[in-house]
Amino acid sequence: MSLPKIEMSIFEAILARRSVRSYTAQQVDNLTVRTLLQAAVRAPTAIHQEPWAFVIIQDKQLLLSLSDQAKPLFLAQVSQHARERSGHRLDMFEKPDFNIFYDAGTLILICGRTTASFYEADCWLAAENLMLAACAMGLGTCIIGSALPALNIPEVKTRLGIPKDFSVVVPIIVGYPTAEVAPVSRKPPVVLTSFPSAISN
Ligand SMILES: Cc1cc2nc3c(=O)[nH]c(=O)nc-3n(C[C@H](O)[C@H](O)[C@H](O)COP(=O)(O)O)c2cc1C
Repeated sequence: MSLPKIEMSIFEAILARRSVRSYTAQQVDNLTVRTLLQAAVRAPTAIHQEPWAFVIIQDKQLLLSLSDQAKPLFLAQVSQHARERSGHRLDMFEKPDFNIFYDAGTLILICGRTTASFYEADCWLAAENLMLAACAMGLGTCIIGSALPALNIPEVKTRLGIPKDFSVVVPIIVGYPTAEVAPVSRKPPVVLTSFPSAISN
């Protein structure tokens, strides 16, 4: 498969990636989804097991119904302590019109074969590859961890065609951003020690 030529260095893509939470109605086409999956499966994989498999959801009604199912389950899992610390942000999950997928037209589930030694690590590495490639192609992405409790219910897995020996590890929404998103700050890297002591804070 030939991949599109992308004029962005890897470091530019790392700096440009944001979690995008507002999308246009333009749907991501099949070739673009395939390109993102090609980027995902180039990730490092422990013992070369390649334990990942993907579910692509572009059905609006299905996305809304998964969102409705996910919200109460996520709230039930979040501790009271975390709810207090998060301030008002978790209140959104109680609103009937809040879509945890932010009305994105595409949800990609990165699933991992649970018998593989490092399936979760492999899937997360695949996720970052996918998100950086998406960013370089002008797409926005956001991991939706709050969907995980619902997505891993056996009946939901069956509905989505996910075999019993797979778990959903990373749900990622993909689409075209409505506007530029400001970067979220990061603390500088903390170096605990370095030998010899050439790299210091
Ligand atoms: C494991 C994980 C789960 C996440 N789950 C959600 C989520 O459910 N909803 C959401 O809006 N953002 C979610 N995010 C995105 C983070 O909020 C975001 O990465 C963080 O605020 C930093 O912003 P940035 O990605 O734009 O740099 C998740 C990120 C990670 C790594």
